[in-house]
Amino acid sequence: MEPHVGVGQTVAKIILFGEHSVVYGHPAIAMPLPTLRMTARAVPTDGPSTLTGLGWSGPLAQAPARFASIARAASVAASFAGHPDAGLNISTDAEFPPERGLGSSAAAAGAVIRAVLDAFDTPATREEIFSLTQEAETVAHGRPSGLDAVATSADAPVHFQAGVVTALDVVPDAWIIIADSGVEGSTRETVAHVRHRYDTDRAATTAALDRLGEITGEVVTALRARDAAAVGRRATEAHRLLAGLGVSNEQLDTLVAAAVRAGALGAKLTGGGRGGCVIALASSQKDAVRVEEAMLGAGASATWVHAPEPGQMAGEVAR
Ligand code: MEV
Repeated sequence: MEPHVGVGQTVAKIILFGEHSVVYGHPAIAMPLPTLRMTARAVPTDGPSTLTGLGWSGPLAQAPARFASIARAASVAASFAGHPDAGLNISTDAEFPPERGLGSSAAAAGAVIRAVLDAFDTPATREEIFSLTQEAETVAHGRPSGLDAVATSADAPVHFQAGVVTALDVVPDAWIIIADSGVEGSTRETVAHVRHRYDTDRAATTAALDRLGEITGEVVTALRARDAAAVGRRATEAHRLLAGLGVSNEQLDTLVAAAVRAGALGAKLTGGGRGGCVIALASSQKDAVRVEEAMLGAGASATWVHAPEPGQMAGEVAR
């Protein structure tokens, strides 16, 4: 069949628990956000590859370093499809900001890979797409755990440990408020920072990572018991531990404090940190609104609210 416009779609994700400690083999829980989509289109061309989207328009070969994983995604997918030298006009359309811990880089890589495979009518299994996404993500992160690649194409929350993914059979029995600090965080930098601590201050770093791992385990039990208050307490504890590892910053600490003061069950940074987003849990819609307002008042540039029941996602408030 002739090549045609290929389309690929993924979604944003939040890490509920386990960022950074997951890199050291501990468990993590992540949740896809089905209303925040990333769509990519790929059209084969005789000319050189181009990219339009995510703040860049021009030849892919000249795109700034932050697009290296997209370039890699296009090339690994084209090779997989048997067209290693194909030129591709790629465009992306994102409903959420990049560099905010919402999985933009894995979502973009995953969407581009799916679009290129679709353009060449090349079927691939979930596992094959996952390994292609990981190849692209390695350029962005160095040594990604794979959590983002899984969560940005999942249908439901996932439990992730040492590369093993299991669908989580429970969802948080709480409203989740996601607040963007408006500051870009670099996962590559924060992962490298924790690695440096691990190499130079092994005992304290291991203790913090171990406790973060334990917290994820305790949260799975609390989720099964529908004990949202216990989940919330663990969120605030996890934030303190992550801050102790040096991956928080003043804006994130301020948003967490504002959420807790406004009655959140707990709050923490999500994703790589030092920028990006904070998540807060609330036990009712009324509390969620109060927490959301408090975080906007404390400087959040945008918020999204995720209702406990599927299909009840509230709209985005951006400032
Ligand atoms: C980034 O979203 C999550 C980290 O744990 C890195 C990774 O899992 O590769 C910080």
